Amino acid sequence: MGGHGSDRGQGEGQLRPDRQAEIEAAARALAAGQLVLLPTETVYGLGADAANPAAVAAIFDAKGRPRFNPLIAHVADLETAARLAVFDDRALALARAFWPGPLTLVAPIRDADAVCDLARAGLDTVAIRVPSHPLSRAVLAAFGGPVVAPSANRSGRPSPTTYADALGETGDRCAVTLDGGPCEVGLESTVVAVLDGPPRLLRPGAVTRVQLEAVVGPLAEAQDDAKRSPGRMALHYAPDAPVRINAVAPEPGEAFLAFGPWPAGEGVFNLSPTGSLSEAAANLFSFLRAADRIRPLGIAVAAIPHEGLGEAINDRLRRAAGFVG
Ligand code: TXA
Ligand code: MG
Repeated sequence: MGGHGSDRGQGEGQLRPDRQAEIEAAARALAAGQLVLLPTETVYGLGADAANPAAVAAIFDAKGRPRFNPLIAHVADLETAARLAVFDDRALALARAFWPGPLTLVAPIRDADAVCDLARAGLDTVAIRVPSHPLSRAVLAAFGGPVVAPSANRSGRPSPTTYADALGETGDRCAVTLDGGPCEVGLESTVVAVLDGPPRLLRPGAVTRVQLEAVVGPLAEAQDDAKRSPGRMALHYAPDAPVRINAVAPEPGEAFLAFGPWPAGEGVFNLSPTGSLSEAAANLFSFLRAADRIRPLGIAVAAIPHEGLGEAINDRLRRAAGFVG
């Protein structure tokens, strides 16, 4: 945990007063077209002014990200979101139910200058979310406009969920880096497209399918999501060592990500000894990185139940293992 880790999980408006200077420095850096390392409740983001094409280009460059993969615009509240995009009744219902929080909504773009073409990869839709982490909320309020922030990892690598991991990925490209402690959720936001037809789940996350359907009814069946959510290619979230999923036990030379009761030992990282999916989600990316650091022949991962948050965990694991989701 970083020096400011005590801000984790605090409610809105409860940031320690000594963080105000950092927040203002971050807002100034964004206004000057610089990059900012931004903690959110899901994963650390690499933030830039969404309206500034040069700043947005610097994000793609820092991540080594293909330019056909659009970014998420982060805003302070639903009112700002509704100025940027066309929110129909279903989008409004989802936003009211889950914002601020780990849900991203894809809707038709309304203000094409506020989130520039490059940020949207030329699409006529935009992905928007209102994060709940008090530091990101404070920076968004101080800056005033939308901030695009992909996960702060270099393209294809696991998303950083601690300040140290985020610094190691893209921290050197940032004018200001904010330590928000370990990320509470640990997986990227749920992405839902609300366009023609029923809402479509583009990326599973902490807001589960069951929770979404309780608000808007049945979601559209998964289709060729690679087309609609262009970043969702195979071999994403991948550590250096090959990942083997649904493992019953590790083979010699493998690290093991266990789930549930399992004897401690060298190379064993238990995602949740009690079998909690939210604990496993919060640990997943940092444990993949920790397992990688012991330079194993491979990383074996125990089977994770496919209910609730398990859908999102298994999505990331399949991609880490190189399977298309
Ligand atoms: O939790 C999160 O969402 C984190 C934190 C930092 O907020 N951000 C994040 O951003 O995960 P990124 O860029 O790593 O993932 C954005 C996802 C990609 O899969 C991208 O293809 C999809 O959102 N996306 C963005 N705009 C889209 C659009 N207009 N239509 C469909 N998918 C879109
Ligand atoms: Mg990402």
